[in-house]
Amino acid sequence: MNTQLCECKLAANGAPPAIAGDHDAIFKWPVITGEDENAVLEVLRAGTMSGTAVTRLFESEFAEYLGSRYALGCCNGTAAIQEAMWACGVGLGDEVICPSMTYWASCTAALALGAAVNFADIDPETLCIDPADIEHRIGPDTKAIIVVHYAGHPCDMDAIMEIARRRGVRVIEDVSHAVGSRYKGRYCGTIGDIAGMSMMAGKSFVVGEGGMVTTNDRELYERCMAFGHYERVAASRFSSASEKLLDPALARYAGVPQGGVKHRMNQTCSALGRVQLKYYPRRIEEIQQAMNYFWDQLEGCPGLRPHRVAPDSDSTMGGWYYPRGLYRAEEVGGLSCAAFCRAVAAEGVNCSPGANFPLHLHPAFHEMDIQHTGKPSMIAFAKRDVRQGPGALPVSEKIGDICFGVPWFKHCDRRTIDQYADIFKKVVEYHRELL
Ligand SMILES: Cc1ncc(COP(=O)(O)O)c(C=O)c1O
Repeated sequence: MNTQLCECKLAANGAPPAIAGDHDAIFKWPVITGEDENAVLEVLRAGTMSGTAVTRLFESEFAEYLGSRYALGCCNGTAAIQEAMWACGVGLGDEVICPSMTYWASCTAALALGAAVNFADIDPETLCIDPADIEHRIGPDTKAIIVVHYAGHPCDMDAIMEIARRRGVRVIEDVSHAVGSRYKGRYCGTIGDIAGMSMMAGKSFVVGEGGMVTTNDRELYERCMAFGHYERVAASRFSSASEKLLDPALARYAGVPQGGVKHRMNQTCSALGRVQLKYYPRRIEEIQQAMNYFWDQLEGCPGLRPHRVAPDSDSTMGGWYYPRGLYRAEEVGGLSCAAFCRAVAAEGVNCSPGANFPLHLHPAFHEMDIQHTGKPSMIAFAKRDVRQGPGALPVSEKIGDICFGVPWFKHCDRRTIDQYADIFKKVVEYHRELL
């Protein structure tokens, strides 16, 4: 189309895209310097990729950063969450409660352990588990509530911990999106009974392919080690490992992991993690400034709301992993979130509707037979069927209508951020062109 003749304002209708220039620097992540490279090379040259000495240093530094008594490095976040579940006693015929709108690894290990997942809905403002949808799901076999600090937003932990303590259920925090996020001054990953988190290359805290368990509970820590870290469990004629377990029942199997799995972190990752951790607080402080600045520019823009905690509170969004905006179509003449995002994308900004798909509708949580029993794992060992169909969790099911992705700025370069904020404003201002 000849853009000179086009009177429309939006690129979606033929106007020239608004974003010009190369903005790679503001988005580049992770930040890898010579210090990171040297740390990794040192492990490679020493040939100690499969050792644990560097990992132990990383664990103690990470535990100190969060303010957690114990930390245990794992090969990925999925493994860390599986250990945490087993440590909490999740097994055959049990149930866990988990938000439906999350990545599958928050809960799928429960199926492998022979337990079922009772999915809860999310809160449309926090995108985290809705505390009001938890308690009625607790039954005699509920062992744990898994909470996900979604896209860096801390869950309402006061309400969740009150329910869990009163009903005698463990709380497992999935901190994969929220390393460095604080809830009322305390770091996510130190508030529930135990936490598991991903540190894979796409996250805000990056070690490569890795994960971490954190807990203040010695017993849970030991159970995690017993599950997947055979080389760490000492006190047996079968093992020369150095870490003494206090629980003799766990120590009895030293040298053989009780989960039948090996979850050790590769030390090239631990070495990278140690260097990343040194700079992480400073780097995410800049992300906080950048993302809060972006949202401040959109203050009062109809249809759009920030997905964030109050900037002046003692809670934070950590590294703002996978930043979302909240979309309210009724304020922009009913324009769908998908159409809004297409228009923003046409301006040259990476923008798409929704977040993770709702797990309660996925066939895996209705049909998948992991244990080959001839029955879906969700009901193979359970005393009740907690599978849920369409309409059961309305907020999770409309996730594609109520939220969208926004640029993940790593530096507080106001001129560049203004350009992006202006595009979101422009699409809202001229949204009638799209109706
Ligand atoms: C919420 C959540 N939980 C768990 C995981 C699993 O972690 P990993 O990929 O390191 O196994 C991820 C992401 O990868 C995640 O986003």
